[in-house]
Amino acid sequence: MGMTDFNVANKYSSVVSGMLNELNVGARVAWLGQKHPKNGTDKFIYDSVMSGVNNDLVHDFYDLNNDESDRSFVWDVHSDWDIKGYDLVLGLRVLYLCDSKKKLMSNLARVCKSNEKVVFDFMTGNPALMNGRETFVKRNDSQTILPFFPELYDGDFSVQPNHDDQVVLVEDFKNSGVGFENILTFRDNVKRRFYTLCEASCDA
Ligand SMILES: C[S@@+](CC[C@H](N)C(=O)[O-])C[C@H]1O[C@@H](n2cnc3c(N)ncnc32)[C@H](O)[C@@H]1O
Repeated sequence: MGMTDFNVANKYSSVVSGMLNELNVGARVAWLGQKHPKNGTDKFIYDSVMSGVNNDLVHDFYDLNNDESDRSFVWDVHSDWDIKGYDLVLGLRVLYLCDSKKKLMSNLARVCKSNEKVVFDFMTGNPALMNGRETFVKRNDSQTILPFFPELYDGDFSVQPNHDDQVVLVEDFKNSGVGFENILTFRDNVKRRFYTLCEASCDA
């Protein structure tokens, strides 16, 4: 378990636990990019969140590495998301796998229309010093998205994409008819990435 995971778990857990505690008893929650806890792996943040939850809810788990069984679904973040009818859709530390801003925006618009509340996080990746400026860039020609929300960051940063469908800006949400509300933005003090937990909503 890296220090980053502890750092992120601490920041996310109280906020997300609070969201879950506010739901009505019996409400339905979809966890995207989360293996069923019975799988026993990649559940540190899930466990941290759930340790603060005292509400009786129905939890469904969507992940590429899931079995199809009770409350466990195979789901690929690169597909067209078919996630409907939930009181809360929660995607923690999964969108960094996306490689197309356009596809992601269309999926967010779709999921916002069919569910009550939608919460995801975005992570910049590690910065590099370029021309004296901290710059967010994906190494080794990685195609995965580069969230860049400088209005939420303290300092002067730049971004250098590898392709023109990679950088995700706050205005991209608006242009796709998706509302963006910052819940929490912080910088981890080990890898110096920015993390943003936000609520996406249906503008239309
Ligand atoms: C960094 S872990 C995050 C797990 C958990 N949400 C958390 O925050 O601790 C990434 C998760 O994404 C899943 N995953 C990997 N590739 C995926 C894909 N193409 N579609 C959906 N999930 C994927 C992994 O199995 C893993 O559970």
